[in-house]
Amino acid sequence: MSSSRRQLLWRGAGLAVWTGARRLLGADQLVPMHAMKVQPAPIKRGLYAAGLPRFVDALPIPSIAKPEASGKYRIAMREIETQVHRDLKPTRCWSYGTTVPGPTFEVRSGKSVDIEWKNELPAKHFLPIDHSLCGAGKEVPEVRTVVHVHGARVPPQSDGYPERWFPPGKSRVVHYPNQQEAAGLWYHDHAMGIERLNQYAGLFGAYLIRDEHEDALGLPRAPYEVPLFIFDRIFDVDGQLQYPTSGMDDSPWISEMYGDAILVNGKLAPDLEVEPRAYRFRVFNSSNARFLLLSLSDGTAFQQIGSDQGLLPAPVPLKAFSLAPAERADVLIDFSPLAGKELVLMNQAFQLMRFRVKAAPVAVKWQPPAKLREVPRIPRSASVKTRTLGLDEYEDPATHAMFMLLDKKRWHDPVSEKPVLGSTEIWELVNYTGDVHPIHLHLVRFQILERQKFDIDGYRFEKKMQLIGDPFPPELGEVGWKDTVQAQPEMVTRIIVHFEGYAGRYVWHCHVLEHAANEMMRPFEVLPAKTR
Ligand code: C2O
Ligand code: CU
Repeated sequence: MSSSRRQLLWRGAGLAVWTGARRLLGADQLVPMHAMKVQPAPIKRGLYAAGLPRFVDALPIPSIAKPEASGKYRIAMREIETQVHRDLKPTRCWSYGTTVPGPTFEVRSGKSVDIEWKNELPAKHFLPIDHSLCGAGKEVPEVRTVVHVHGARVPPQSDGYPERWFPPGKSRVVHYPNQQEAAGLWYHDHAMGIERLNQYAGLFGAYLIRDEHEDALGLPRAPYEVPLFIFDRIFDVDGQLQYPTSGMDDSPWISEMYGDAILVNGKLAPDLEVEPRAYRFRVFNSSNARFLLLSLSDGTAFQQIGSDQGLLPAPVPLKAFSLAPAERADVLIDFSPLAGKELVLMNQAFQLMRFRVKAAPVAVKWQPPAKLREVPRIPRSASVKTRTLGLDEYEDPATHAMFMLLDKKRWHDPVSEKPVLGSTEIWELVNYTGDVHPIHLHLVRFQILERQKFDIDGYRFEKKMQLIGDPFPPELGEVGWKDTVQAQPEMVTRIIVHFEGYAGRYVWHCHVLEHAANEMMRPFEVLPAKTR
């Protein structure tokens, strides 16, 4: 779409006419809006933009979760205070331990674990709840939690279905089979209607699955393997978290939360002293809505060795890579030619953290293996069904209430995606909006087939679907197994999914948490394979 037309459709900050009447409407009464946004009302921003000194705090490394007995963990969610910068007062957060991110789980493929998740949070939320959103009504306890291990192949009762939340004072024991290959997963809150607030408060951490294949590659291990959680926030002048609102009491929801402060492992612009050797960084984008474009200030390349669901077939040298919310990259940085130097990890022009390379003793040269792991491509012919699923923004013509929908359906509409266990399907995600939507499917790993442009104006004004040009293959860093895919604007993104693991009810959704909260989340149901 031309930018002039986009301007015409843009409602921008002037949109002040929408009410909390969402629940009364059916999707057929809604009209697609496109590029409509609910912007936050101005809030008093914090000190960070005004200039705090950078690189004065050491990069924190989350502790490793300790089992109480073999394979048995007990994790409490609590309100904590943590210092995000040397010169700021402690910040109130919610955590699965004593830090944000919470402790890192280190588990072995094929060895199950049980985790008791205990909700010991206060009864009142400290961030602004929008009670008009689905599942966040005043009739349910204000604070609710349910934990989802993002990327885990688990039975439905272990998956953290958004409506299976539990309130403060309650706990739940959850079984994780870990029947999958080595991968950098992460756990986070998924409670219906307030997931974006709970994650913003700090409820997430790493869940690393290891296997023998990965062990045999001789990749750098701790302390040379470091998780990096990158996430943006807004702090007020007292160093406290602010979550912006629309300014309307009955519907404070905003389309996306973007902060002016970006933290790495819970610190603003931290510093890491490294040895002149190769390091392995497990990079997680745990922002609510912010997409990252990461590079190193001196032009040093990363070697990407893995993505969401494990190792790539071969290392990919990259000067920069993007990460949507919930996507992960497993990258190596070789500091051996950089003894005595400093370099900065950048998000576009923004300085995220500094690496200070020691001058001594001796640089350790090392190259990753040329082959990492076989990732057999799933042939298109394996697919028994192609589903065409739209991603769009809608407005109710009467109330101007806005929704973001998958396949024109709302959360409570009947389940429409019912793949059979053991079958393979192609899902075509047709993005009618001007935004990238990172689409995540629970339970499964999938492969990206391709992306293809289509004529958005033809669709909008004549209701015709016209594909344009040849499809684009996935990016080099996207050729491994994925669980979250960037559905690009005005494109069809095709993924091929083998539904293996378990039958039952799961969800798929956009991982921009504000979108997911306003209906861009749907259940799907894996049907048991017919036996005869
Ligand atoms: Cu990362 Cu449904 O979640
Ligand atoms: Cu989205």
